[in-house]
Amino acid sequence: MVTKPHSLVCLLSSLITLFLALSCSSPPEENLSLKSSGGPAMSLTKEIFGYLPEGQAIEIYTLANSQGMKAKIMTYGATLVALEVPDKNGVSEDITLGHDHLEGYLKASPYFGATVGRYANRIAQAQFQLNGQTYHLAANDGPNHLHGGLKGFDKVIWQATPVKEKDWVGVHFSYFSPDGEEGYPGNLKVTVTYQLTSDNQLKILYEAETDKPTPINLTHHSYFNLHGQGKGNILDHLLMINADYFTPVDKQLIPTGEIKLVKGTPWDFTSPHPIGQRIQEVPGGYDHNYVLNKEEGELSLAARVFEPQSGRIMEIYTTEPGLQFYSGNFLDGSITGKAGRVYPKHSGFCLEPQHFPNSPNQPNFPSTILQPGEKYKSQTIFKFSVQK
Ligand code: BGC
Repeated sequence: MVTKPHSLVCLLSSLITLFLALSCSSPPEENLSLKSSGGPAMSLTKEIFGYLPEGQAIEIYTLANSQGMKAKIMTYGATLVALEVPDKNGVSEDITLGHDHLEGYLKASPYFGATVGRYANRIAQAQFQLNGQTYHLAANDGPNHLHGGLKGFDKVIWQATPVKEKDWVGVHFSYFSPDGEEGYPGNLKVTVTYQLTSDNQLKILYEAETDKPTPINLTHHSYFNLHGQGKGNILDHLLMINADYFTPVDKQLIPTGEIKLVKGTPWDFTSPHPIGQRIQEVPGGYDHNYVLNKEEGELSLAARVFEPQSGRIMEIYTTEPGLQFYSGNFLDGSITGKAGRVYPKHSGFCLEPQHFPNSPNQPNFPSTILQPGEKYKSQTIFKFSVQK
């Protein structure tokens, strides 16, 4: 009898799941049955997402819990490709902008879901001085350097290792960035670990080590729309940012160096406001770094977003001192993304936990220089819940 394609696919995916279970770091009996610890069922599968023009295969990992949350992450850019989150009626929807196929990411992606580095955000004039030497970086945003340059961490292939623990499933990504890459000094070993927990948190842990002093500032760049991706704009989302200060910018979106109170300005989100309420008063829309209220290095609440129709709430916790709020101003309807949905202006927002833009040239901003022998560590948590 000829095997039907459907059963072939099933057989293949079971084999892949079994392979993953056997190759994970925890003891084999726990890997084969995720229910073994008495915890809720979670799953982890791997597929090929596509091939780069040079022929390298790009893998995609699907993490799922029993609450209806699912995260898909690929090895190209350690990118979050989809994030399904339940609404107040328990209906899950993908709430991140992006593409259904790898080709979309290669053709047109303003950093959808990507891991951004070596330095997220802008470095003025694509240069900085360190220990008396001037370093020239790739200029990819007019005269400035943006999100790690022409081929930043969002455009490289990461090595992936799936991980299963009692209360989470995840993927550990690693990348070796050689000395001089995009102009940065030092060989940098960097890892990013995504974890989906049984209680609807997506946790991201970053670590890095260098052999020469180098600036480093890693972030996650998902565009969220809590209605569901491609379903209208985000102007009605209620946003709270736990920051009394922000860093004003010049015309090229480079911080002026000033640290300004948000009170009495349209940048004040210390209490919840619809994103669209005062956006007309902000030239170009929101694209600013907030100075989070916190003790240095503390993992604390940075922002909360609530979308009343779906009831979805997203909270962001981070150890980072800053949060870039970008209201999707440069989306212009020219990108057709997942499920054939078009992405016009403000169809998604980014909240990027990070150090302040242009820190290597701003001595009054917290330092972003990693020294040999030190370990860079940063954590961000996206926590989901609903309000009826
Ligand atoms: C920046 C924007 C930029 C966008 C896409 C955001 O992090 O703040 O200015 O246009 O990324 O590149």
